[in-house]
Amino acid sequence: MSAVIDVADLKKSYNKNNTLVLKGLSFQVKKGQCFGLLGPNGAGKSTTLEILQGLKKPTSGKVSLFGMDWKDNEKQIRMKIGGLLQSNNLYGRTKVKEAVRLFASFYKDPMDVDELIERFGLTDKANAWLDSLSGGQKQRVFLAMTIVGKPELIFLDEPTTGLDPTSRQSFWEIIKSLKEEGMTVILTTHYMDEADYLCDELLIIEQGKIIESGTPDAIIHRTFTDPVIREPRKATLNDVFLKLTGHDILKQETSHA
Ligand SMILES: Nc1ncnc2c1ncn2[C@@H]1O[C@H](COP(=O)(O)OP(=O)(O)O)[C@@H](O)[C@H]1O
Ligand SMILES: [Mg+2]
Repeated sequence: MSAVIDVADLKKSYNKNNTLVLKGLSFQVKKGQCFGLLGPNGAGKSTTLEILQGLKKPTSGKVSLFGMDWKDNEKQIRMKIGGLLQSNNLYGRTKVKEAVRLFASFYKDPMDVDELIERFGLTDKANAWLDSLSGGQKQRVFLAMTIVGKPELIFLDEPTTGLDPTSRQSFWEIIKSLKEEGMTVILTTHYMDEADYLCDELLIIEQGKIIESGTPDAIIHRTFTDPVIREPRKATLNDVFLKLTGHDILKQETSHA
């Protein structure tokens, strides 16, 4: 399988005294994978995603998408990707179908808007204002906007944060189906169960550093040697994070909020 994303020694600092929020990340994402960046608040997930999407510049390191770099190939890369930003509040006074149609108009060969709305269970909301929707419905609209241009690669930054369990589940099923259709999906999350369910491979990052990487199974096997814990799988990725860092990712999450 070929690498859709290739990142080497990626560093980022936001300020002049060079405090690095990304301290040298290296990873590859293969075509058709769901690849996850997992970590607590402030780990550097959004920064990484924004750099990959050409929205922020790295301080140093190599970032290539489809074998191209942002500097010389912005237009070509832009046509192949779609992105859902964290807490997207931009389009409140827009109607569902209008919003998806607007995004469709940016592309040469977009999906059929009505079909897409139907597929995401939004047909009876087609003429509703975005700000009248539930969190789960809103995320599905944003996802429709993200994929309507038939991107090969999509970026989802904490797509299910704040959603109720049923909405999360239905969002997961949509992501799975996109992956089955061959789309490469990069997502960030601080939910271990989400990473475990959706991701073929993941990076666990903390304070801008990779502390583990691989498939969820491989990570659990490396972290725990006791066969009673690892087979049948009694340990979760949350246990991995706790063991590697000494603190609970979810507790840390709430203490930041
Ligand atoms: N625009 C910015 N200016 C200065 N610091 C920032 C900016 N964006 C993020 N940071 C800092 O970079 C670090 C990583 O943030 P972020 O990438 O948003 O992490 P995550 O998405 O994992 O919560 C944090 O310490 C955050 O405060
Ligand atoms: Mg973030």
